[in-house]
Amino acid sequence: MSAHFDLPLEEMKAYGYKIVDLIAEHWATMEEKKPVTSATREEMDSIFLQEAPEKATPANEVLDFVMDNVMKYSNVISHPKSYSFVPGPSNFVSTMADSLATGFNIFSGGWIVSPAAAELEIVTMNWLLKMFNFPVKKGGGIFTSGGSMANLTALVTARRIKCGDDFSKAVIYLSDQAHSSNIKAIRVLGFKKEQIRILPTDIEFRISINKLKNAIAKDRLEGLQPFCFIASAGTTNTGTVDPLDEIADICEEENLWFHVDGAYGGAGILSKKGARALRGIERADSLTVDPHKWFFQPYEIGCLLVKDSSWLSNTFSEKPEYLRDIEGNESEINFYDYGIQLTRRFRALKFYMSIKTYGLETFKKAVTYNIDLAEEVERMLRKSRNWEIISPATLAVINYRYNPIGLNYSEKEIDALNQEISKRVMESKEALLVTTILNKQVVLRMCLINPKTTIEDVRETFLLCNKFAEEILAEKK
Ligand SMILES: Cc1ncc(COP(=O)(O)O)c(C=O)c1O
Repeated sequence: MSAHFDLPLEEMKAYGYKIVDLIAEHWATMEEKKPVTSATREEMDSIFLQEAPEKATPANEVLDFVMDNVMKYSNVISHPKSYSFVPGPSNFVSTMADSLATGFNIFSGGWIVSPAAAELEIVTMNWLLKMFNFPVKKGGGIFTSGGSMANLTALVTARRIKCGDDFSKAVIYLSDQAHSSNIKAIRVLGFKKEQIRILPTDIEFRISINKLKNAIAKDRLEGLQPFCFIASAGTTNTGTVDPLDEIADICEEENLWFHVDGAYGGAGILSKKGARALRGIERADSLTVDPHKWFFQPYEIGCLLVKDSSWLSNTFSEKPEYLRDIEGNESEINFYDYGIQLTRRFRALKFYMSIKTYGLETFKKAVTYNIDLAEEVERMLRKSRNWEIISPATLAVINYRYNPIGLNYSEKEIDALNQEISKRVMESKEALLVTTILNKQVVLRMCLINPKTTIEDVRETFLLCNKFAEEILAEKK
C-alpha cells in the first residue's frame, strides 16, 4: 500500500513529449508572436481565481488550460523586440538542462548528496573566475537565484569580513545609479539610513571619485568606519561602468571592501570592447554577474565570485548536528556553506551544458554582436532629425528621446510626448519598450542583449515610434 499518485510510464512519456513539443514550438515560432501582453487583475481573477480543487482533473486538460491562459498572458521576454528592463534572451539547451535538473530533483547543497552537482558548480565557477581574471585556486563563488541574491550574499560577506560582529559605526558607499537590489540588501542587513552614502554621479553617470574621497574623509573624521564601496559594472539605466581601477586604488588605500555589481554588464568581458570598458573588474573583492541576463541562461541563475573562497565559508558555514554525516572534507565543497540557501536547485547544470554544447566562442560572438548592434543603432539615430541620444551605446544599452529639430516644446511636453510614445508602443504589443529617467528627462531605453535582435527589428520599432509620435503631435494641433 502507498499513496503514490504519479502517472503510469506511458502516460508520463506522452505528457512529457507534449510539453517538450510545446517548448520547442515556442522557441521556433517566438518571433511570429507579439512580445507584449497585458491583463488587469479582474481579467486574471475571472480566469484563474478558484478554491483549491478537492477532486482531480485530467493532466492534459490542466495543461491545455495553462497553455491557453498562462502562456498567453506572459510577455515573451526572449523575443527579439523585447528591449526593456534587462531582457532574458535565454537559450534552448539550458531550457532543457533546467528540465533535467528539475526532473531528477537534484539537491545541489552538499557534496555527499550530489558530488557531480557540486563538482559542476566548482568547474563552472572556475570558468567564470578565469574569465574575470580572478584567482582560480584561492577564489571561489556560488550560483544564486539572481543578481539581487548575489549582491545580498556579497554584502553579508563584506560586513562579516570587514566589521565582524559590530557594525554600528560601519558606512557603505554606492552611487545614485547603483541597482536598487543593493539598497534592498543593505536594508535587509539592518543598516540605518545614516550608515548609507548614496553619492551623485557625473554627467556620464559615473561615480565622482572626488565626492567619494570627500565622503570617506568626512566619515573618518566623524569616527565612523567606512567599510565597503559598491561599484557598478554596467548600470541598469545606461550601461555605464564606474572607474573601477581608480575605485580599486581608493579601496586599497582606505581598507574598503570593493564589491562590483556586474549583474548585467559583467558578461561584456566576453567581447574585446566590453573587456576594455570593464578594465579593473579583476581587482574587486567580490563580483556579481547574472547568467540569466547576458550569459543567455533561463531564469533563475545569478552568481557571486570572490577573491578568497574562505570569506564565504567563514561567513556562512554552520555545523548543525543533523548535517554532521555529510560534512565531508575541505576540498569537497558543500555549497550550503558558501551562501544563504541549504536546499538549492542545480543551477550549474544549464550553465555547463550550454557552454559545452555551443562553445564559449558562440557566447563571445553573441555578446560582441550585441555591443556592435547598439553602436549601429546609435549611428542610425545620430543621422535622424527626430531622435536625440541621451546616453550613447554602452555595453549594449542606449537611451534616446523623440525631440525633432524645430519642435518648440517645453521639457515637460517632450517628457509627456515620449511617455505617450512608449505607452502606444506597449499597447500595440509589437515591442517591449518602456521609459526611464535620466537627468530628469523621460527617455526611451533599449537594452540590446538578445543575439536574435536584428537592425531590421530595431528599424521597424523606430518606424512604429515615429508613426505614434506623428499621431500624437497631430492630435495636439
Ligand atoms: C546592475 C544590476 N544589479 C542587480 C540586478 C538584480 O538582478 P536580479 O533581477 O537577477 O535579481 C539587476 C537587474 O536588472 C541589475 O541590472
